[in-house]
Amino acid sequence: MENIIASAVSQVGDTHHEAAPRRSPPGSFVIFGGGGDLTRRLLLPAIYNLACAGLLDDGFGIVAVDRADLTDEQLRDNVRTALEDFTARRGAEAVKLREDVWDWMLPRIRYVQGDFESVQTYQAIADVTAGQNCIFYLAVAARFFGPIVDRLGEAGLVREGPDAFRRVIVEKPFGHDLQSAIALNTRLLNTLEEQQIYRIDHYLGKETVQNILALRFSNGFFEPLWNRQNIDHVQITAAETVGVEQRAKFYEGTGALRDMVPNHVMQLLAMTAMEAPISFDADAVRNEKTKVLDAIHPLAPADVVRGQYAPGTVGAKAVPGYRQEPGVDPHSLTETYVAMKFGIDNWRWAGVPFYVRTGKRLAARKTEIAIHFKSAPYALFRDTPVDKLAPNIMVIHIQPTEGVTMQFSAKIPGPSVRLGGVRMKFDYAEWFSEGPSTGYETLIYDCMIGDATLFQRADNIEAGWRAVQPVLDWGQDARSLAFYAAGSEGPEAADALLARDHRHWLKIG
Ligand code: BG6
Repeated sequence: MENIIASAVSQVGDTHHEAAPRRSPPGSFVIFGGGGDLTRRLLLPAIYNLACAGLLDDGFGIVAVDRADLTDEQLRDNVRTALEDFTARRGAEAVKLREDVWDWMLPRIRYVQGDFESVQTYQAIADVTAGQNCIFYLAVAARFFGPIVDRLGEAGLVREGPDAFRRVIVEKPFGHDLQSAIALNTRLLNTLEEQQIYRIDHYLGKETVQNILALRFSNGFFEPLWNRQNIDHVQITAAETVGVEQRAKFYEGTGALRDMVPNHVMQLLAMTAMEAPISFDADAVRNEKTKVLDAIHPLAPADVVRGQYAPGTVGAKAVPGYRQEPGVDPHSLTETYVAMKFGIDNWRWAGVPFYVRTGKRLAARKTEIAIHFKSAPYALFRDTPVDKLAPNIMVIHIQPTEGVTMQFSAKIPGPSVRLGGVRMKFDYAEWFSEGPSTGYETLIYDCMIGDATLFQRADNIEAGWRAVQPVLDWGQDARSLAFYAAGSEGPEAADALLARDHRHWLKIG
């Protein structure tokens, strides 16, 4: 049964014509935090990949801005090392850095040393970017977002000319709760127009997340079933095996809910539940996302489970509990896991629960959306050995495997009527031969060409925070914190959340 969809499509032939994407316009890509981890691990490799694909204009340049005292040459050496690390990390597909691409990039990399708050820094940026298109990427701690945009404004650096755009990409976390997200939006909008702001959520750069819309709206057979008449419930899982790593300082004040739900998980929920937009125009898509997030029913305490990992075993390796991690308060009440039951009060989804869970140190790394369809009527099978009908489930695998599986029943060969659960599977890697990407390529390229569809508008961000704000208002409470062993499926209380509704989670590991 495997790959039946894929083989069926291959018979249809080349239904996916590809128009070659155009090159980006010329301009400077100015990275605040140009010496930081995000830049090294993701942004530079993404730019390198875009250069390999021939998508960057000859007038493209990188300006890294940071506090360290570096020369252009030292920065270029660091960039080369970062790119070599990236290409080496490709495992089995490891390839050497392409020297032709490196030769092209090298003279296009500049360094501006300076403090993010100092006027001189912005003067130096103005000198190297004069009159050009500019994208300012804020790859810095969230406390700098507001001040950097204020300084860019005061220096006149975000004033657009008839032939020059000025755009700002803002990383997460965008606010700490609804109120601070509104305040940050207001502050940025004092200096920038909404269409100059590109609020990034790296989940939207994942091919499989973008594929949710393609799957739903480019196929005739899913959408008629995509509603409360046919869907019993939806499960969204974003499970990680990693612990808090070196981020205790950030994570202690953040927790799994703030870190993952209002942003990444809400994007997955919105893509799954939104109405069809009237076009792929950025605002048409973002209007529909906000509408569905605004329809989320206010959460009740009984619909939320907060958990924290205790010592356990991940991949045969004993690992400490969260409270034993370096930098974590031994009495910490920060959650490393959260499970929630959302309801969406609209005509399509009324009565269909959306169960979401996300956590660290779980049994496997797995992000997926499982659509559980209602069972067929059993009546026909009452006089057969079949005692119940298995539900049909469509799983959209976001990572690490990328693809879609459909689970349904088929007759087991033999004289009596017996049913077995079978699966049809579409695997991205098998079907499309795209090279590995960081997920940031599309986002950076889209910003260059001025397409904000995959970025969040102010109201999208606020709608995500609004949906989880009740939980933040209840505060952290020792009684409501459920512990789970590292490497497990999560706390028992999360199982109880579904058992209450006579349902159960799909297994993570
Ligand atoms: C980040 C969170 O936004 O997303 C991290 O801050 C988390 O805590 C990460 O590990 C997960 O991203 P991905 O792409 O690995 O699923």
